[in-house]
Amino acid sequence: MDFRIIDRLRADRSAERAEVVAGLRASPAIVAPKYFYDSLGCALYGAICQLPEYYPTRTEVALFDQKRLEIATEVGAGRQLVDLGAGDCCKARGWLPFLEPSRYIAVDIAAAEIAGALQRLAPDFPTIEMVGVVADFNQGLDLGDALTDAPVTFFYPGSSIGNFSPAEAVRLLASIRSHCVARPGSSLLIGVDGKKDPGTLVAAYDDALGVTAAFNRNVLRHLSTRFGFDFVIEGFSHFACYDEGLGRIEMHLESLREQAVMLDGVPRRFAKGERIHTENSYKYAPTEFEALLAEAGFRDLRRWDAPDFPYHVFCAA
Ligand code: AVI
Repeated sequence: MDFRIIDRLRADRSAERAEVVAGLRASPAIVAPKYFYDSLGCALYGAICQLPEYYPTRTEVALFDQKRLEIATEVGAGRQLVDLGAGDCCKARGWLPFLEPSRYIAVDIAAAEIAGALQRLAPDFPTIEMVGVVADFNQGLDLGDALTDAPVTFFYPGSSIGNFSPAEAVRLLASIRSHCVARPGSSLLIGVDGKKDPGTLVAAYDDALGVTAAFNRNVLRHLSTRFGFDFVIEGFSHFACYDEGLGRIEMHLESLREQAVMLDGVPRRFAKGERIHTENSYKYAPTEFEALLAEAGFRDLRRWDAPDFPYHVFCAA
């Protein structure tokens, strides 16, 4: 094996369970989006990225392909490369020959996904040290001893920062910046989805094939297997909408009938039409995101915009 895995997941099953149950008992009910990503959820997200309606992935890939050299020159080669939310590591693969990192550190909550991805990646880049860090960076960016004192490029593509509220995003960006400050010459390379017409946005989160619906409903299957709940998946439908005021896509699961789900021996009744809020995906105008980066302490900003669609890549130091 040409990689090592560091497990930083603070796995406290009973605290986790209590948090999930409290979220489901709340009104409106909520589930944290991290529960999307069991192995089936990861595969469904991979399928979403190939959908014609889901523009963020292909827009970002096209922008990276077009500006690869320029961006690589800006961030610099030979640094440690930390891939946040690495998943199948496909987004980083194209950068490795350009950024020539001394070490590649793939961070993700999905342990099996990351091990499988590094197993496929490592043989193609035998000179790069590969490390997988299993972590939930909702709880802060704890990378254990994965980083040395050398400069780092933090790579956070795919507009995943949009799944945090603006306040949470600032906290995460500030913690990335503190790692950068400790290692002069470090920077953050991040992809951010822009604001666009609501029709395009809603279609991207409610595709004709129903893949996003399956991704959303799979969270109930995952919670039932993980915690022993008895959700009936057929009892909930996928709902996505765009809140223009908040600048975010919202995903919900809507109860199709009156029903009860047993949560630790106590029923949680859902009325017909009642929703479980499963995800937000914030969309930012360039100046809005620049303000978040500035609030997090980043001063030196460079931006690349996709030519035909509002999607933005920032390099921040
Ligand atoms: C991972 N994240 C950036 C995706 C998004 O667009 O917010 C998750 C997703 N949810 C539905 N489709 C994709």
